[in-house]
Amino acid sequence: MTSLYGVIGNPISHSRSPQMHNRWFAEAGIDGQYFPFDIEPSRLEEAVRGMKALNLGGWNVTIPFKEAILPLLDQVDDDAINIGAVNTVQNRNGKLIGSNTDGAGFAASLLEKRTAEDIKQSSILIIGAGGAAKGIYYALTKLNPASITVSNRTEERAVSLIQSIKTPVKAQAVSIQECEKLLSSYDIVINTSSVGMFPHTERLPIEISGMKDNALAADIIYNPLETAFLKEARKHKADTLNGVGMFVQQGALAFSQWTGIKPDTEKAISRITEELGGTSC
Ligand code: ATR
Repeated sequence: MTSLYGVIGNPISHSRSPQMHNRWFAEAGIDGQYFPFDIEPSRLEEAVRGMKALNLGGWNVTIPFKEAILPLLDQVDDDAINIGAVNTVQNRNGKLIGSNTDGAGFAASLLEKRTAEDIKQSSILIIGAGGAAKGIYYALTKLNPASITVSNRTEERAVSLIQSIKTPVKAQAVSIQECEKLLSSYDIVINTSSVGMFPHTERLPIEISGMKDNALAADIIYNPLETAFLKEARKHKADTLNGVGMFVQQGALAFSQWTGIKPDTEKAISRITEELGGTSC
């Protein structure tokens, strides 16, 4: 019998996850189907009960349900509890288990550009303090970098992000103005804010003229493939990493949980990059 999977969100029609997971099912020779489910926010609990009753093998969770789903699950792993958000649910014999592969997906993507050793010596700036920033911050603390600074339009959110996740890594929250002043001290700058996302593609999350040569500028946005932030960073001789890698890696970690199979992430990154109008090399 076909095993069912999916992604719940609102809106969900833009999601590239169904295509990606369905290709992986086909490549692995697994009889599985992955569907997008557009759920009315007030009906989340009903939807989760329905998915459990229909015996879905698992599903991804996206905006606006990543936090709201926690109390509806039977178990949530420690990482997702610390992050306060779930993006992957696995149905293990009728028991719904939540986890978060967003941060680990970003870390896997970052490790394609920088070695673990490089990261240990890096001062990292995270721009934004929302759900995505939290997962990324949490995953980066595990890589033990020299320091992590979080900067956000609403500075108190950056402060509370740092207070909510305990780590021995040197960490601080600063205002956007302050991080712009300190920009030349960062080796890796990550935009986790939605600034620069389609349709406002001309926007930059910070003024980046002070960026260090050869620093890495990473964006979690993948539409457009090259955000204004990455474009400017490239002009300032920075190395760049777009959001396709994180998207594919978070999906691959979910797929492995459900099936025990690690999909070909390199191939998926090339394919999605080409579909989004870029070149894969
Ligand atoms: P996600 O789960 O994708 O991280 P989120 O929790 O809504 O989404 O967080 C969005 C992030 O983008 C926040 O850091 C937000 O800043 P605020 O906390 O100040 O709202 C940031 N963001 C969104 N629109 C922005 C804008 N126009 N200028 C600056 N930052 C913005």
